[in-house]
Amino acid sequence: MYNAKITAFGACVPKLEVTNFDLEKIVDTSDEWISQRTGIKARRIVTDETGTDLATGAAKQILEMSGKAPEDIEMILLSTCSPDYLTPNIACMVQNNIGAVNAACLDVSAACAGFVFAMSVAEKFIKAGTYKNVMVLATEVISKFANWEDRSTCVLFGDGAGGVLLERTEENTGVLCEELGAKGSGWEVLGNGHMPINNAFNNAKPLTEADTYVFMDGREVFKFATSKLKESINNVLEKANVSKDEIKYFVPHQANTRIIEVVAKKLKVDLDKFYLNIDRYGNTSSASIPIALEEMKSKGLLEKGDKIVISGFGGGLAWGTMLIEI
Ligand code: UT7
Repeated sequence: MYNAKITAFGACVPKLEVTNFDLEKIVDTSDEWISQRTGIKARRIVTDETGTDLATGAAKQILEMSGKAPEDIEMILLSTCSPDYLTPNIACMVQNNIGAVNAACLDVSAACAGFVFAMSVAEKFIKAGTYKNVMVLATEVISKFANWEDRSTCVLFGDGAGGVLLERTEENTGVLCEELGAKGSGWEVLGNGHMPINNAFNNAKPLTEADTYVFMDGREVFKFATSKLKESINNVLEKANVSKDEIKYFVPHQANTRIIEVVAKKLKVDLDKFYLNIDRYGNTSSASIPIALEEMKSKGLLEKGDKIVISGFGGGLAWGTMLIEI
């Protein structure tokens, strides 16, 4: 029986830091409003970097930490909801950039929950014995889809990438339990990048540039996130027969500090056990969890045997929670 264990971490964010004060000059907002309502102080925004560049940066760090040669990587599985092209997928372009010529390449799309979904798919390939290792990445350039005249959305997002190497182990460790889910009836609550019908026979209402922008009913997403995160974390812990006290860190998708505070309270877990870095990166969609994991690893917060819970939620509406032993 094979299990899948994280053996390396990586992250890469754009050079440019944009603070709330910078945004005050672009839209009618304030550092006070953004900080109080979201916990965000700054975010990284691409100037010339693509999602592929950021994912490549994370992949190189993962390779270096793992000590593996690029040819050893058997699969690259990448989450994004802000691709550079609809095809080719970003995983193929990362494969080319790092020389992982033997890797099968696949992108998955489950919005901000995408990294948890990608981890789950990767774990299945390893559990089935198909691959001994899978590089799991998430890269997002949501700034491409932000309406920079809409203060209610443009202040929330940041760009970035992160990832891990999942490897086969015969020990009873690594990915221990998970829950994935979706509520498709809520698809209109959150999304981006509506694609036009564009052919010689088109009689649909023409789309405009605005149709590609992020659309969001913030209050509905807030309600969904706070109830679903709590429910999903409880479900996974119950299924695994692991108590909240045994969890060293909860690493939720970084969408809003207030969402995380509400969830901590509902779960009756000390907020200190929730890792937060949204103040520096904003909401980087599916990249937020692996960026946090890399940061935690480099700060020495993750040690062998630690149990952590990662939990993502977002457009779809989709959610995913995973219990992992480091
Ligand atoms: O990855 C998942 C993606 N999304 C989320 O997780 C978002 C979840 N939702 C949220 O985080 C919150 O709903 C927001 C942060 C988006 C909004 O916070 P809110 O407390 O729900 O504010 P609101 O939308 O109800 O707006 C309150 C007021 C409005 O003004 P009025 O109508 O009360 O006069 C907005 O126009 O705040 C105004 N407002 C702003 N003011 C200054 C909205 N955005 C801004 C802004 N700066 N950037």
